[in-house]
Amino acid sequence: MISIGIIGGSGYTGKKLIQFCSNHPFVNDYKVYGNKTAGQSLTDLFPELAGQILDSVIESLDNISSVHDLFFIALPHGEALKYVPSLISAGKKVIDLGGDYRLDSKSEYEKWYGIEHTSAELLKEKIYGLADYSGTQYLDSGLIANPGCYPTATVLGLIPLVSRFGEEIITASTIAYSGTSGAGKSPKQELLMAEMDGDVSAYNVNKHRHQPEILQTLSKAGFSSPFSFTTHLLPAAIGIYATTSIHLKKSLNENAVKEFYKAFYASSSFVRLREVPPHLTWVVNTNYCDINVSVKDNVAIITSAIDNLIKGASGQAFQNMNKMYGWEESLGIKAEGVKHVSVY
Ligand SMILES: NC(=O)c1ccc[n+]([C@@H]2O[C@H](COP(=O)([O-])OP(=O)(O)OC[C@H]3O[C@@H](n4cnc5c(N)ncnc54)[C@H](OP(=O)(O)O)[C@@H]3O)[C@@H](O)[C@H]2O)c1
Repeated sequence: MISIGIIGGSGYTGKKLIQFCSNHPFVNDYKVYGNKTAGQSLTDLFPELAGQILDSVIESLDNISSVHDLFFIALPHGEALKYVPSLISAGKKVIDLGGDYRLDSKSEYEKWYGIEHTSAELLKEKIYGLADYSGTQYLDSGLIANPGCYPTATVLGLIPLVSRFGEEIITASTIAYSGTSGAGKSPKQELLMAEMDGDVSAYNVNKHRHQPEILQTLSKAGFSSPFSFTTHLLPAAIGIYATTSIHLKKSLNENAVKEFYKAFYASSSFVRLREVPPHLTWVVNTNYCDINVSVKDNVAIITSAIDNLIKGASGQAFQNMNKMYGWEESLGIKAEGVKHVSVY
């Protein structure tokens, strides 16, 4: 049994972490630490969770207790740098949901985030926790950098193809969409219902921070071709949808590619391979990543969909925690006994 501290647990991803803590058989207790919400009770902040969680008062970030075994950090980028080094020195396990430890290089972090990285030695030590990417071993690790929401959907869709047919790829181009909860709970005029309703537009074109994160993982799997990544905001609260078009040097057999995907994810509890492009509604409120692969001649189109707050953040963080402790991966996240089903 373990004790958990959720630093930044009063936000959108924090609320999911609280729910998963309440469902997990090996979580003995948990404490939420907040900024402006410190002093409020959890059920005042999240009335919909009354009766489902262990209620307590949100503690200030200035009073983080050392009793916890593991800390989730769900703070805006830059803020985790203040807490992670001392927690790791104290022998605690840490899973950071933000972007501060995802990139391997201090200079890349500083270029894309515009902040000095003050604990760059941990960038090499951390494990990048793309939980369904087979072969990743976590048991001895202290620090997990939980992947971003766009990278989770994009990379899970692409990485089997890249691993097997990387040398055949001429270019890859991802067009991705996010619901507004991806930006967190602090108010922003452009995210008001009156601005968003009926609208779609691209944003952060050629400068989205998730682009180097995606490329970092793909390049380790053998990808070295030109890649473009364009993000759009959807007039919906939840979801990430990524469509990647890949031009290949030669034609591939669609069935062979699908069989390879099936084998690649055979042991994954949370990747569902679909015969048709997934819908966002199929994955909202779940920890699944639904993927469809379509190949015609020398063009492959891969579509993938996730819930940004669960698979793209807190659900994957719980998968990572379970992997760190050697527990069954779905504990806390979904009902016990539900097994992975592939439709191929
Ligand atoms: N939203 C997503 O879909 C998503 C997906 C993947 C990763 N992430 C990452 O996960 C992290 C949390 O995201 P979120 O969507 O949960 O954010 P959020 O809803 O905005 O919540 C942020 C949390 O951090 C605290 N906080 C806000 N500003 C702070 C500051 N200046 N100093 C200290 N604490 C501060 C807030 O405390 P109070 O409420 O008490 O003020 C709250 O607990 C971010 O790094 C984000 O990039 C988010």
